[in-house]
Amino acid sequence: MEARKRLIAALDVDSKEKALDLTRILTPYVGMFKIGMELFYSCGPGIINIVREQGGEVFVDLKIHDIPNTVSRAVKKLTGCGASIINVHAAGGKDMMKAAAQAAEDESVRMGKQCPLVVAVTILTSIGKQELNNELCISGEVKDQVHHWSLMAQDAGLHGVVSSAREAPVIKNTCREDFKIITPGIRPAGSAAGDQKRIVTPLDAVNAGAAYLVVGRPIIAAPDPAKAAAGILQEMTAGE
Ligand code: C5P
Repeated sequence: MEARKRLIAALDVDSKEKALDLTRILTPYVGMFKIGMELFYSCGPGIINIVREQGGEVFVDLKIHDIPNTVSRAVKKLTGCGASIINVHAAGGKDMMKAAAQAAEDESVRMGKQCPLVVAVTILTSIGKQELNNELCISGEVKDQVHHWSLMAQDAGLHGVVSSAREAPVIKNTCREDFKIITPGIRPAGSAAGDQKRIVTPLDAVNAGAAYLVVGRPIIAAPDPAKAAAGILQEMTAGE
């Protein structure tokens, strides 16, 4: 897949105007836009179609985590709204993930459209070993937990996971070839980590086997977002 199609820009803004400004500027450089909680809660589900009409495909990043019945109904709605990627928390358990996958499949068939990718959030990239062990009370290494949840997500019929690219090799080694790894926590050389802990450069993420790279602040908070996105595309292909 060409680099542009693999780059997802996070529209972490609070209005339709700001989101559309960014989609207009960034469309030549990114293949998909991510609508997270801030934009979704500011504008409502209609923002998905608005971004699709102007900018292309949409990853709806609401990190759904609830009982299977509730998750199923939420995923059905997001599938109907035109999301290309939807995510749920692996911590919600296998039955919850199965319900999510089934709902997306059923609604897509009913509407006669392509099924969105339904992926599981493993360990947030803002969590390190210290927080995993001492706050979440999950023992061991981050990579072992990510590995466990990735296998669980695959068994549940999901299409991939969200993780740091640091864990991508272990996922690649054990999951299906077409099981997608989506990696946030991307930081071009020299940029600020912010609240992210398990950060990786664009080239390292590509080399580790990430299917998609999610980038927020390094693009949208840059003085020139188009230039920043172009720079990331260049970094992604630096090894070719
Ligand atoms: O600004 P930054 O590049 O850190 O933004 C990363 C984006 O990816 C944010 O929108 C964040 O919500 C999202 N994300 C994440 N870690 C995950 C899943 C999604 O950082 N595990």
